[in-house]
Amino acid sequence: MNTKELRELYVKFFEKEGHAIISSASLIPENDPTVLFTTAGMHPLVPYLMGEKHPAGSRLTDAQKCIRTGDIDEVGDAWHLTFFEMLGNWSLNSYWKKEAIKWSFEFLTEKLKIPVEKLAVTVFAGDGDAPIDNESAEIWTKLGISENRIAYLGKADNWWGPAGQTGPCGPDTEMFYWTGEDEAPEIYDPSDKRWVEIWNDVFMGYFKDKDGNYKKADKRNVDTGMGLERVIAVLGNMPDVYHVDTMWPVIEEIEEISGKKYGEDTEITKSMRIIADHLRAAVMIMGDNRGIAPSNVDQGYVVRKLLRRAIRHGRVLGIKDNFCCQVAEIVILLFKEIYPEVEKNKSFVLNEIEKEENKFGKALEEGIKVFNKIEGPEISGKDAFVLFSSYGFPLEITKELAKEKGLSVDEKEFEQEMKKHQDLSRQGAEQKFKGGLADASEQTKKLHTATHLLQAALRKVLGAHVEQKGSNITAERLRFDFSHPDKMTDEQKQRVEDLVNMAIEKEYPVSYREMTVDEAKAKGAMGLFESKYGEKVKVYTVGDPNQKPDAISDSPTFSMEICGGPHVENTKELGKFKIKKEEASSAGVRRIKAVLE
Ligand code: ALA
Repeated sequence: MNTKELRELYVKFFEKEGHAIISSASLIPENDPTVLFTTAGMHPLVPYLMGEKHPAGSRLTDAQKCIRTGDIDEVGDAWHLTFFEMLGNWSLNSYWKKEAIKWSFEFLTEKLKIPVEKLAVTVFAGDGDAPIDNESAEIWTKLGISENRIAYLGKADNWWGPAGQTGPCGPDTEMFYWTGEDEAPEIYDPSDKRWVEIWNDVFMGYFKDKDGNYKKADKRNVDTGMGLERVIAVLGNMPDVYHVDTMWPVIEEIEEISGKKYGEDTEITKSMRIIADHLRAAVMIMGDNRGIAPSNVDQGYVVRKLLRRAIRHGRVLGIKDNFCCQVAEIVILLFKEIYPEVEKNKSFVLNEIEKEENKFGKALEEGIKVFNKIEGPEISGKDAFVLFSSYGFPLEITKELAKEKGLSVDEKEFEQEMKKHQDLSRQGAEQKFKGGLADASEQTKKLHTATHLLQAALRKVLGAHVEQKGSNITAERLRFDFSHPDKMTDEQKQRVEDLVNMAIEKEYPVSYREMTVDEAKAKGAMGLFESKYGEKVKVYTVGDPNQKPDAISDSPTFSMEICGGPHVENTKELGKFKIKKEEASSAGVRRIKAVLE
């Protein structure tokens, strides 16, 4: 089976059980200031898991693009991927354990034709926060899973979420597939690595609050997640995830460019895996509808790190010239059908990669010379900082080089150096790695609504070429990136600010309607038209929802955008809007930072 077949088999199976097939959301969470990337299928659905009504209904299914950077040091082994796809099905207070587990069992045994003998499951053992999940265990045994194949484990293994610090979460039941060559042992041993996790059903009956307490939620939501690449690999008896169809041609291209063979030696194999994984992830982030260029902050810094580490491993393979674009083109070919945005953004992606490779390629050589002169056993934080600031070495690369020579790095001192040099924005990015989903606080709601007003005002003042390229909101300010070739004049900035404040003073109502993407387009709504399945979306209007928005400054329909929310109900709640800064973000993209006072 290939990835295309499994994606289809999965969503079609759940469609038959009343689920609406929805499109993958962007890899960049738009209005969540505390996380950089979408890390699970449930992540874009958090508002709905919290009780907001989803326009497509209460049963959903999809394949979601995901990025996980937490395990980046593990990349290079057989199973960890930075970019991966997660198949999932959700119940928004619709069905509960019985149906979820039954469908999981049916899908595994009937659709994927996995013999019951090759399956084992885990369920939650219970603790002070929630009781033992005997209910799930009973459902499994009734379906035909032997009691010997059910393990009861604690929170570390059988509890999922919240995705951030607070939010929906709950006990889960995980499904494992026997990959061993011999027959599967009768008694399931969770520590035996030949049992590989393939699916997770989470029963989100709890909510973790900011004090760390688990409260019983008033909704019974189900969230499930199946790793697409991993399932293809284990069912296909493949030695690793790199043999999966959305990865193997990338490896072949690297073999071709380097003249080396995958599998011929562990170091070569590892470098090829890192290049393939990192370029695949970088291309998917850059080629996203909210595509991000390499930079020194936030998601842009992750892209930069991925590209630079891939470039360095290219050198390990003996590749002397630029090679990343050639590999990136294969990634685009592999994904353009399922995620057409990567093809649409191809020239942006290739341009940015080429620039980064030109820049870092030279610095890398010089930096390696400097590195080789440093004497061990420990690389001081100061030296690591010089490599970072003068040669563009992310700390990860210095650590990796050090490890290869049996040296260590004084990371603490490196962090102190960073602080001294007040690279605050990057520290901000590191913080966000650790953070979780933000609460939909009142202030973020206001700033988010103000972002709609800002985009509409920019289009009225600068023209219809203005389109959102990125948005980031913290409790203090909004940041909005948009396409526009020139620096804005003071007069233009003033007019935009005045227009937004006028919309606030007019006390426009903010309302939404549900419609298909085509209907939204026809009405003149802005936003990402990323739906593929004709599912309904929410269209938020500031002003009169019955008319079309237009370029006239005092149009009664001030703004109309496809958006998930959250928003205030009336613009009068916003206060006074002020632009603090207008600057270049990347080529052809400007950035505005603004506040509400
Ligand atoms: N959200 C769950 C996971 O990522 C399904 O495993």
